[in-house]
Amino acid sequence: MCITHGVMIYNTDMRADHINGTMFLYRQIAEKISGMITEGTYRPNERIPSIRSLSRQLRVSVNTVMEAYASLENIGLIEARPQSGYYVRYPSPEPKAMLSRKVAMAYVAPNDVILGDASLQIMRTLADPSLVPLGRGAPNTDLLPSDKLNRMLASQSKRFPGQSVSYGSFQGIRKLRVQIARRLLHSGCTVSADDIVITSGCVEAVNLALLATCRSGDTVALGSPIYYTFLNSVQWLGLKVLEIPSVPGEGMSLEVLSYAMKQTPIRACIVIPNFNNPLGTLMPEEKKRELVKLLSKQEIPLIEDDVYSDLAFGPVHPSSAKVHDEKGMVLSCSSFSKTLAPGYRIGWIVPGRFQQKVEQLKALFNIATASPTQLAVAEFLTNGGYDHHLRKIRRVYARQVNQMRDAVISNFPQGTRVSRPEGGFILWVELPEGIDALRVYEEGLKQGIGIAPGVLFTTGNRYQNCFRLNAAFWSDQIAQALETLGEISESMV
Ligand SMILES: Cc1ncc(COP(=O)(O)O)c(C=O)c1O
Repeated sequence: MCITHGVMIYNTDMRADHINGTMFLYRQIAEKISGMITEGTYRPNERIPSIRSLSRQLRVSVNTVMEAYASLENIGLIEARPQSGYYVRYPSPEPKAMLSRKVAMAYVAPNDVILGDASLQIMRTLADPSLVPLGRGAPNTDLLPSDKLNRMLASQSKRFPGQSVSYGSFQGIRKLRVQIARRLLHSGCTVSADDIVITSGCVEAVNLALLATCRSGDTVALGSPIYYTFLNSVQWLGLKVLEIPSVPGEGMSLEVLSYAMKQTPIRACIVIPNFNNPLGTLMPEEKKRELVKLLSKQEIPLIEDDVYSDLAFGPVHPSSAKVHDEKGMVLSCSSFSKTLAPGYRIGWIVPGRFQQKVEQLKALFNIATASPTQLAVAEFLTNGGYDHHLRKIRRVYARQVNQMRDAVISNFPQGTRVSRPEGGFILWVELPEGIDALRVYEEGLKQGIGIAPGVLFTTGNRYQNCFRLNAAFWSDQIAQALETLGEISESMV
């Protein structure tokens, strides 16, 4: 370990940012500086060490420090001021979905989930294909390898005529599980094909995980704002939800979670650690480790939804929380819905010690995932150039996320904040206090534009001035729709 100027660089095995066990240096530096900001060592509006001085002090290259600072700028923690250096941003540019810890602790209590007709109606409109698609979290179909995949679907069905029309094993086709096990190495996980169960998408995987770990009446902790599909699941399974607020640059507050665990028996916890939906946050490596440790101490299962990790904009594939799992208590879920074909419904779960239960539940509800699409995806992963495809779509999504952020900043009222994700294609927008995002949504609908208002992402009265945007699409029509939404919001100031 090297300590200099209050910045500590550890050479410990942080695994997942780099498969061979060493974390990228720039990321270690970024995490340390970000930790010092969160702890208050560097306060808002204060100057942080210059690139040159930090590079000298840490004996690393100027480029490494530049990369670290660029990643902190990307998440809005610091800003470069011309001819003056780098400063901690003030006030925090992160949307206030991230509550102060004091406030958060005051109201953490389990809630029943009752999604009213209004919420269900909004969810239905999100799927309306006639609307400008800014609301739904779907990938851009033009960026999916539809032709190649559909050709493989046909050729594999022809090649395996019996298998493609038969019930498969409830664990899923082995060839596909082998490919997924290989890919999980990118997330730092060393699992075998036998540790994986194929599911009909990531949502089925999360539902199976909830069923395997919880009983009706139990409480589940979730990072807030909450991806609304999980609120639906929790409601229908008769569970209570404990909304844990999020911290800038960290995701779910572990301090609040640890406090809540002392107040309330928690049966399971759901986290979207990588490019969270809707906040876009990438949970730092240390925090993933801390989260797994905190929960496993009390034998609380962690259900991880890792559906966006293949869409990182930077060179580093983010790790799975499963990397830190020593007791089999992490149930890691994902799918190819954001990268290949949501309609193929191919996902998976690595259920750890809950594997037997998950397999039984899969057999009970679904018998097995459809065989033809499993065969096609297995073939694509083997011979279709998945990595090449990912490189292409990541570049497009990175560009569009920036374009959409710029459009929000220039069209919406002064004081509007927008997230700065380092992967995926989801943006979270916070309008100035007092502007009702539900009204913006309603006015937008009248003009044929869909957005996902913040009220969908909570069981309480939160995020009323927030909404989620989908940056998977970009066109003149989208740019125009953002101008219109900006005008609608301006008229409500
Ligand atoms: C966090 C998250 N999990 C799961 C899903 C859906 O995954 P699937 O289509 O594989 O069920 C989505 C889609 O929006 C998502 O954002």
